Amino acid sequence: MVAGFRGTRHDVRGDEMTATGLACGSCGTELRAGDKFCHECAAPVVAAAKPAEYKQVTVLFADVVHSMDIAATVGAERLREIMAQLVDRATAVVKQFGGTVDKFTGDGIMAVFGAPLALEDHAVRACLAALGIQDETVRLGAEVKDRDGIDLRLRVGLNSGQVIVGEIGSSALGYTTIGEQVGMAQRMESVAPPGGVMLSESTARLVDGTTALGEPELVHIRGSDEPVRVRRLVAVSAQPGSIGPSGTRLRGRQWELNTVAAMLDRSVSGQGCVVGVAGPAGIGKSRLVREGAAIARGRGINVFSTFCESHASDVPFHVAARLLRDAAGITDLDHAAARAQVRARIGDAGDEDVLLLYDLLGIRDPAVAVPNIDPDARRRRLTALINSMSLARTAPAVYVIEDAHWIDEVSESLFADFLTVIPQTHSMVLITYRPEYRGALAQVHGAQTLSLAPLSDSETTALLDELLGSDPSVAGVKALIAGRAAGNPFFAQEIVRGLAERGVLEGERGAYICDADVADVSVPATLQAAIAARIDRLDADAKQTLNAAAVVGLRFTVELLAALGTDPVLDPLVRAELVDQVRFTPSAEYAFHHPLIRTVAYESQLKADRAALHRQLAAAIESRGAAVDENAALIAEHLEAAGDLRAAYGWHMRSGAWSQSRDVAAALVSWERAARIADVLPADDADRLAMRIAPRTRLCANGWRSHKPIAGKRFEELQDLCAAAGDRRR
Ligand SMILES: Nc1ncnc2c1ncn2[C@@H]1O[C@H](COP(=O)(O)OP(=O)(O)OP(=O)(O)O)[C@@H](O)[C@H]1O
Ligand SMILES: [Mg+2]
Repeated sequence: MVAGFRGTRHDVRGDEMTATGLACGSCGTELRAGDKFCHECAAPVVAAAKPAEYKQVTVLFADVVHSMDIAATVGAERLREIMAQLVDRATAVVKQFGGTVDKFTGDGIMAVFGAPLALEDHAVRACLAALGIQDETVRLGAEVKDRDGIDLRLRVGLNSGQVIVGEIGSSALGYTTIGEQVGMAQRMESVAPPGGVMLSESTARLVDGTTALGEPELVHIRGSDEPVRVRRLVAVSAQPGSIGPSGTRLRGRQWELNTVAAMLDRSVSGQGCVVGVAGPAGIGKSRLVREGAAIARGRGINVFSTFCESHASDVPFHVAARLLRDAAGITDLDHAAARAQVRARIGDAGDEDVLLLYDLLGIRDPAVAVPNIDPDARRRRLTALINSMSLARTAPAVYVIEDAHWIDEVSESLFADFLTVIPQTHSMVLITYRPEYRGALAQVHGAQTLSLAPLSDSETTALLDELLGSDPSVAGVKALIAGRAAGNPFFAQEIVRGLAERGVLEGERGAYICDADVADVSVPATLQAAIAARIDRLDADAKQTLNAAAVVGLRFTVELLAALGTDPVLDPLVRAELVDQVRFTPSAEYAFHHPLIRTVAYESQLKADRAALHRQLAAAIESRGAAVDENAALIAEHLEAAGDLRAAYGWHMRSGAWSQSRDVAAALVSWERAARIADVLPADDADRLAMRIAPRTRLCANGWRSHKPIAGKRFEELQDLCAAAGDRRR
């Protein structure tokens, strides 16, 4: 017999236990705070079952078509294997969109969106998951077709409404969902066409506006005399990123969004546009771009994107190559498959040009030498190739370049070339940056710039109403937050999250109550402080994981974290919405929920701790073996951040040598960095002089090719240094 708590799981915290008079489920004795065993009868203490409750949810049923026939063809064992793979993939998709797999039904799965955690947009998430599951099935189906010669197809049905969720009966059955709405979801699945997704009327109503649906159809379903109206799901325009668990409705920005939509129209008609979106951190640049991208996707237009990072990834080409890889559709392919795809897409380009492009995209076959072409010619040919590809493209596209204030010089100049032909294409380019950025991408000839102002008072109030709810007890806090956030939506969100974590706000998002006196409530003064306070509340393991991740970059994998000697603890970070899982297969990948969270996590670490992580990371990247030269600049960055200046110098020089034949601008960056490191070495370092001379020699030999007056200054320095070396030798 085990002891149980009377009350909900919420009660299982610290001193609340005695305060609420929790009793042993075995002998009834009142339990003391922190008891793991009843002090009277020694029965182990376990949390009581979560009480059943009503929730608004969307239920998803996915079932394999003709599974009996498949079993007859391939045998039960192979069917089991196929089902296991399908269920794994479907489960990953469900999780990705915040749902829970309720059960395996034998031929498929049942999943729920909106329980146990309430989700405002449960229906949209379920739609995204349904389409994602169908995509996975198509992928798996192709493999199965090759191997077993059978067609693997799935029907998916969705229905939304109120259900009862909770643990039923013995705990073996676990947490589940019951109610007539569940049955209705199953009926929707049964009337879906193979490969299709069918929505009940209630789901269709909830997702109207964010999805493309087929015409209403009347169908007969079991258990109903009257035909019911259903609609087939065709596409979803909302993007997963825009519907994070905290996703709030877009407030204001109508004029900006209309402008983006108008620019999109103009682009599609053949007068491609470049739109810059400028504004301080957290004001809503990325959000506006996501909304714009959703409009484009809703019209069947492809969106390709890349992002820049604040440090450690300031590596030539990365940002540009990421966009090109996305546009070529090779992000998830292995190198050989990626090369085949690129080859097929660029039609009649010459072999040498194709090899140059493979090299730029980082998918070169190591067994094939890169053509020995002068780097200037190489740059011209690559630019011509990329521009002619973009001119030849008749299907409209949207290219997104996020956070240009962190762009590396080489990507910046590649993009500047790329943007020159955009007005003659059917494509639109959206570029976000903070106001301090004055580089080439902020000064594109003919570009439209949208400078985002703070939200108005009424827009901020509407946002806070949505976050906090309308209980009279939160009115004071609402005014306090509105005043502090000053129209910055991210700041407002972070303050609310922080207050909820501190327990100042109780209840759920959108329905908080506040018992505290407003005069006693402290609110962080800056957005950075709000984030820092939330990070501080993490327990040690989670914080360590976040810190290590911040050193890796905006996106990171569990493997890399493990290579840094951390035992990654990600669940609390995902729950606190500090990071999001952005990829499930083939291996899990996470991303910071917002770039600023990464910046704060990075900057709040002790320099010595951070340095150790940078050093380990450099070693981890180096030990991966493949593409060490390509990663030389990245390794150098990490070593420099670790304070290992001599080692960093060596890698900068190696990176310069690697880039020299590829892109002079990139090589110059590396040698400049090496020169700067050599300059700050201790004066009594015996190698200092030689180390100062070596990169300057390279800079002078190649600098004339760049359009900057590097060579002149460096040449004089080189003369002086050589003279000094000569003196020394004498
Ligand atoms: N107009 C808006 N209405 C409601 N929420 C918004 C609005 N604009 C932004 N948000 C929310 O505020 C948060 C911050 O916005 P966003 O990430 O777009 O900022 P940003 O300007 O890109 O910041 P950074 O410069 O740091 O990248 C996001 O959660 C976003 O969904
Ligand atoms: Mg942003």
